[in-house]
Amino acid sequence: MTSFFLNSTIEKLKITPTPFYLYDTELLKRTLQTVIAEADRYGYHIHYAVKANANPEILKIICAAGVGADCVSGGEIEAAKKAGFPVDKIVFAGVGKADWEINLGLDSNIFCFNIESIPELEVINELAATKSKIARIALRINPEIDAHTHSHITTGTRENKFGINLDQLDCVLDKLQTLNSLRLIGVHFHIGSQITEIEPFKMLCERFAEIQSNIEKRGITLENINFGGGLGIDYENPDTNPIPDFKIYFETFNRYFKAKAGQQVHFEPGRSIVGQCGTLISKVLYIKEGSFKKFVVLDAGFTELIRPALYDAYHKIENLTSSETEDIYDVVGPICESSDCFGQDVKLSRVRRGDLIALRSAGAYGEIMASQYNCRKLPKSVFP
Ligand code: LLP
Repeated sequence: MTSFFLNSTIEKLKITPTPFYLYDTELLKRTLQTVIAEADRYGYHIHYAVKANANPEILKIICAAGVGADCVSGGEIEAAKKAGFPVDKIVFAGVGKADWEINLGLDSNIFCFNIESIPELEVINELAATKSKIARIALRINPEIDAHTHSHITTGTRENKFGINLDQLDCVLDKLQTLNSLRLIGVHFHIGSQITEIEPFKMLCERFAEIQSNIEKRGITLENINFGGGLGIDYENPDTNPIPDFKIYFETFNRYFKAKAGQQVHFEPGRSIVGQCGTLISKVLYIKEGSFKKFVVLDAGFTELIRPALYDAYHKIENLTSSETEDIYDVVGPICESSDCFGQDVKLSRVRRGDLIALRSAGAYGEIMASQYNCRKLPKSVFP
């Protein structure tokens, strides 16, 4: 089964040079309406994680919905500003912020820097002082929770480079008292990505309650709590589950974490907003019959979509051109690396040269992670 959206655009797809990213903006808008409505129930604030997809058209639609932006580089701050995100809704995270990026954040008067280490505190303090500014900061704390995701995308465990470890928090708070150009406005967490169980989020709330009571003992009130992103999407069933269950997600936070009067609660969803609205469309170059396998060689490779090669990620593959009896294929790209494989033993309607192949659920960490390896051209995007 192929989605109604893909079927209805097929004539246009046939005449567009491949490979390209195809975006379903109606689905994106419905997803945004849902996430905002569910967050609004509890007064939660949303900052879209720009890293998931920074296509200017996508950013414009997300910005028009009224949410803020979570950025992890100067380039992302520039992209968010260009798309129209108000600077007071931009947060800036990342373990390695360069001086020019910090200066850009300071000059732009962004809402908050999420800080990950003492040396970073010192540098931001110094740069803010030079400009006679006070930088608003939140401490990114590593809550030491295992979210059971792929090892390349977990962030909340002790072995990880991200955040301030719990046993170092006191030391960081001591240091903060000596830095006059910083104002602590809250804390930040992010425990990983493509989290499909609700349990880790519940654990995060419980862990935060302990952390908060320790911080409050020092007479500090936390005005802002940012729980990061991480909600997963259904890669197996993009048509039956196009919009993630934001209701249960926010209900969980509301149930296990009671915000105090005046406390603002923030989230940074990326994948859950844009994941399902993007499809990579590719054309079949050859059917190569090996001794043991039949290979479908596409004109898209890991240069266009690196997730299968990098994380063993599954993307549903569909033949948009044929609906004949199915056969079993390995679907590969043209790149000179064995890891350039989108799927092994994939059941597809009989494939011929020139057929259009869809790689579904590629809206998040797809186009934005494209590379020019093998001197290839970056993929274009299509908004029908
Ligand atoms: N906030 C912070 C601090 C993050 O590091 C991330 C993602 C997010 C929010 C958004 O997380 P999301 O809601 O999208 O799960 N390239 C990988 C995913 C890397 C995620 C990095 N951080 C992939 O293709 O699966």
